[in-house]
Amino acid sequence: MIRSPLMTVMVDAVMKAAKGLRRDFGEIENLQVSRKGPGDFVSQADLKAEAMLHDSLLKARPDFGFVMEEGGIVKGNDESHRWHIDPLDGTLNFLHGMPHFSVSVGLEREGQMVAGVVYDPIKDELFIAEKGKGAFLNNRRLRVSGRNDLMECMIGTGIPSSAKRDLPTYMKEMAHVTARTAGVRRLGSAALDLSYVAAGRLDGFWETGLSSWDIAAGVVLVREAGGFVSDGNGSDYKVTGNSILVANTSVHGQLVQALKEARAS
Ligand code: 2AM
Ligand code: CA
Repeated sequence: MIRSPLMTVMVDAVMKAAKGLRRDFGEIENLQVSRKGPGDFVSQADLKAEAMLHDSLLKARPDFGFVMEEGGIVKGNDESHRWHIDPLDGTLNFLHGMPHFSVSVGLEREGQMVAGVVYDPIKDELFIAEKGKGAFLNNRRLRVSGRNDLMECMIGTGIPSSAKRDLPTYMKEMAHVTARTAGVRRLGSAALDLSYVAAGRLDGFWETGLSSWDIAAGVVLVREAGGFVSDGNGSDYKVTGNSILVANTSVHGQLVQALKEARAS
């Protein structure tokens, strides 16, 4: 597989940041951690990784803008391109020594997500996708699962932090989906959940209360692997939205229906 210059820039930046994260993960007891809000933490590792990503990407594409989990929005001279950066997706896993987290970088061009890289430094799994060019895991082409009966599906999700008001509604969704599928998984990194849908490991995934950097790269991966991406209600996914529902094209509608019934119950 030949990588485009753009993909080379993204992968190089992500791998460099991931090296630091892998090192920090080996000595998490020494990390400085602070709390941004209820259930929302940031560590020295997040900040260092984000600074590295920002530096590498700025050097390679000086005019592009940034939307960063920690650093916020930085406007670029080129207003049609913006990076969406999550230096450490799965921060809580990381801080608890749970080896499941990722670095995620997505590129938005004129309001559309067009390229994504998600890297899991512990499993050494690199997920990449570019619009029109397919999705890959460590150079192997990805395809979403072929299951077409929701009852046989394994679906990923994220539980909104208890501080958020929508927890009771979410619990109804969880009950409905649990009863209508083979099983539900809560893995803790939305970027990896989306990558796993692209890889056919999960048949679908839904979560609300997310930000663009959590899912920017993953939506490109799912689409390029032949999956369907919508917002949590089954309507068009928007970069500015905060909910997501993805699945293979056969079960996407069934999952939308199950969630609608749950909310109405
Ligand atoms: P994080 O680890 O970078 O915070 C887990 O359910 C998913 O939700 C993770 O991708 C996690 O990203 C994300 N998440 C957790 N708290 C969040 C918040 N306050 N805003 C947006 N996304 C959040
Ligand atoms: Ca995140």
